[in-house]
Amino acid sequence: MKVLLVGGGAREHAIAMALKRNEDVQLYTLMKIKNPGIIELSEEVSFNPETDVEAVINFAKKVNPVLAVIGPEAPLGVGVANALRELGIPTAGPDKLPAQIETSKEFMRNLFKKYSINGSLSYAAFNEYSEEVFEFIDKMTSEGKEVVVKPVGLTGGKGVKVVGEQLKDNEEAKEYAKEVFDKSIGGGKLIIEEKLVGVEFTLHGFVDGKNIVFMPPVQDHPHAYDDDEGAITGGMGSYSCPNHKLPFLNEEMHEEAKEIMKNTIKAIENEVGEYKGFLYGQFMLTVNGPKIIEYNARFGDPEAMNLLPILKTDFVEVCEAIANGTLDKITIDFDNKATVCKYIVPNGYPIEPVKNKELKIDVDAINNAGATLFYASVNEEDGKLYITGSRSAAVVGVADKIEDAEKIAQNAIENFEGEVFYRRDIGTKKLIQKRINRINELFNK
Ligand code: GLY
Repeated sequence: MKVLLVGGGAREHAIAMALKRNEDVQLYTLMKIKNPGIIELSEEVSFNPETDVEAVINFAKKVNPVLAVIGPEAPLGVGVANALRELGIPTAGPDKLPAQIETSKEFMRNLFKKYSINGSLSYAAFNEYSEEVFEFIDKMTSEGKEVVVKPVGLTGGKGVKVVGEQLKDNEEAKEYAKEVFDKSIGGGKLIIEEKLVGVEFTLHGFVDGKNIVFMPPVQDHPHAYDDDEGAITGGMGSYSCPNHKLPFLNEEMHEEAKEIMKNTIKAIENEVGEYKGFLYGQFMLTVNGPKIIEYNARFGDPEAMNLLPILKTDFVEVCEAIANGTLDKITIDFDNKATVCKYIVPNGYPIEPVKNKELKIDVDAINNAGATLFYASVNEEDGKLYITGSRSAAVVGVADKIEDAEKIAQNAIENFEGEVFYRRDIGTKKLIQKRINRINELFNK
């Protein structure tokens, strides 16, 4: 059974491994980088940018797969899923218009407003610079709210800036807002939103257009350094719990988050057509319930590495059900295991990462630690690995208890040699307790 995979990061390595658990799968991958983990699992690789629609189509025509799975958001944003569907290939990954739930922050917020979906917040969208931009920020200041400045289009995770994180205050937010227009960052349109206060978590769903099947919630860690210090990254690591809950998320709030995602897919269908793929809701748990920070039209990275290793159901079957609109006909199960993922990243990441330096990995030691290794943004040249500047590789521990999964991941992550670093504290009792304390503090105020 030939399956086409588009994408070459750690998320796609996790997707590739999950697909290959079905012994009938022959994997054909199109990716830009030379990810050794994915190369090893693939029959053939087409090294091309994932956004090159023509290259994807030519490769798909040559391979003639029975299924295509798209990993990253960028190809979705340029219509790779549309093109594959037009060729008659069942595809897990939304078409360009439904994918706007990620690729256009304006589309997302307007959808929430139009369909009165819970979990909304104060925001304003601006297509060009006018005095109203500063007036809106002043209004938020007068209401005691800090803001988030979001370029509307994709910026590779670097465009969104938050007061209290990358921006000092609402005045600095004004300067950045002006810069977004002046430098045409993310297409030069922007959304200004009220900053949410609480604890973040992510909820993923498999979506077949009409039905959504939820995966266990996961918590990612965006800050670069231990104890949530440093710049916001693509995610330094994440954990999930054996009971498929999170210790700070009560049943009512969890259900509320699911309801928000169910209403979102209905609204997308109504507005631009069916959404078929993986949907990732990044939530902030606030005192007023879960609120959507943003959606991604794909699996989270690192979250895919928590979720896919514990998926008990054949992932091929799940992807086919997504593509064919038959998720209601299958049962999807996850193992009741804890998972901890830790990322190794280049020194200086994410602001000034070192690049093209050799990374040595003691793969045997990682295997002996009982962890799974996922290659991310590394290139293999002449049997050596070189980091690219983005996150390099990740290790995942799976165990009955979270403390054991953390130990496995920690023992494994000590086996990298190079100009790289990682967070020690992800999945530790101390850090998880910090999140619980934060929620208790907010709710008991
Ligand atoms: N967990 C961050 C992301 O996937 O964008």
